[in-house]
Amino acid sequence: MKADIVIKNIDKLYTLKGANRARVKEEMKEVGLIENGTLAIEKDRIIYVGEGDLPADIEIDHNTLVIDGRGKTATPGLVDSHTHLVHGGSRENELAMKLKGVKYLDILEAGGGIHSTVNATKNASFDELYNKAKKSLDIMLSFGVTTVEAKSGYGLDDFETEIKQLEVAKKLNEDHPVDIVSTFMGAHAIPPKYKDEPEKFIQMIINEMIPQVAERKLAKFNDVFCEKGVFSIEESKEILEAGLKHGLLPKIHADEIEPLGGAELAAEVGCISADHLVAASEKGIEMMAEKGVVANLLPATSFNLQSGKYAKARTMIEKGVPVALSTDYNPGSCPTENLQLVMSFASLIFRMTPEEVLTAVTINGAAGLDLADEIGSIEVGKKADIVLFDAPNLEYIIYHFGINHTAKVIKAGKLAFEN
Ligand code: NIG
Ligand code: FE
Repeated sequence: MKADIVIKNIDKLYTLKGANRARVKEEMKEVGLIENGTLAIEKDRIIYVGEGDLPADIEIDHNTLVIDGRGKTATPGLVDSHTHLVHGGSRENELAMKLKGVKYLDILEAGGGIHSTVNATKNASFDELYNKAKKSLDIMLSFGVTTVEAKSGYGLDDFETEIKQLEVAKKLNEDHPVDIVSTFMGAHAIPPKYKDEPEKFIQMIINEMIPQVAERKLAKFNDVFCEKGVFSIEESKEILEAGLKHGLLPKIHADEIEPLGGAELAAEVGCISADHLVAASEKGIEMMAEKGVVANLLPATSFNLQSGKYAKARTMIEKGVPVALSTDYNPGSCPTENLQLVMSFASLIFRMTPEEVLTAVTINGAAGLDLADEIGSIEVGKKADIVLFDAPNLEYIIYHFGINHTAKVIKAGKLAFEN
């Protein structure tokens, strides 16, 4: 075998060896650390991982890119499994309102929030959306992110805009090194026009939008904002089950602000992940553990909403829920692409250990995208998505917070970013 890329002398190589499904409880601490590690890549695949020198059966020649990992830390490419990547505009005008104490759901109720981003997204051309999202994707890659989930949901009843968002994500997935996995989220808010008859909008999602999105293969997942004043438990269930009938796997924005029972619904419907979960009940958490629903936690959103409330990550881990972590990057509740900052927040606020945090942004994020057999660990046969950090160990990356520690990113066997 001939290697295209070799990284040798890696001080700390966190492989997450043996991980091809979501990890729970104590398993979340098993990060497969190799000191003085070496890894080899051929085309887009990992062909060797081990300690010390490269074995004799792996050849290198003048075409092989040899990278020195001395003083560095390597991990699997990070997975940001919950974002609203493609959208128009920005909502910094909400900052002054927030500082006066106006609540997120009140801004939404008054026609701002998501609705103002819907207008900006409608008014943006395909190219404008593409260029803006590309800029964010470049930033994500620079932070070590190699796979991103991207939701629609800023078109709502304007189906053309929903499609435009999904088409932008599709094109970016083709053009950009980072892999994008798309989610249809027509059920992101009730459009003002349907305020008094939301059932009409829900039927439009179920009978018109979901079948077309599925038929055109524009999304893998179907998501709903299940929240007080947005979509109820019953409505969310109807929408998620309609998606399932068309092969769209269910995800849910659950119990973000009010404890509606979204975690329970996620278990009942068989969601691949339930996201936010700040107000999730004990029973909901237990039901998720039983069904293996990934809890995708978004601490930067809670931080930015300034409610002082955070998801009970420790309880979830103790009860056996597989926990993932994501940015939730969007122009309102979480305007940041920085997954490394989310990792620090998770440690300091959720009290997750560095090992649990790494598991959450690699294999558990991958599992929440139904990709755990392809990415999320550094093992022979898996896709060669690797981050090399200019850091002596994992703890340092999380402890020394707010900056970018990335030195190099290898995506699908190609050097995609260098600092
Ligand atoms: O995950 N909560 C609903 N949706 C997004 C926010 C979208 C927005 O505010 O534009 C979220 O936080
Ligand atoms: Fe979200």
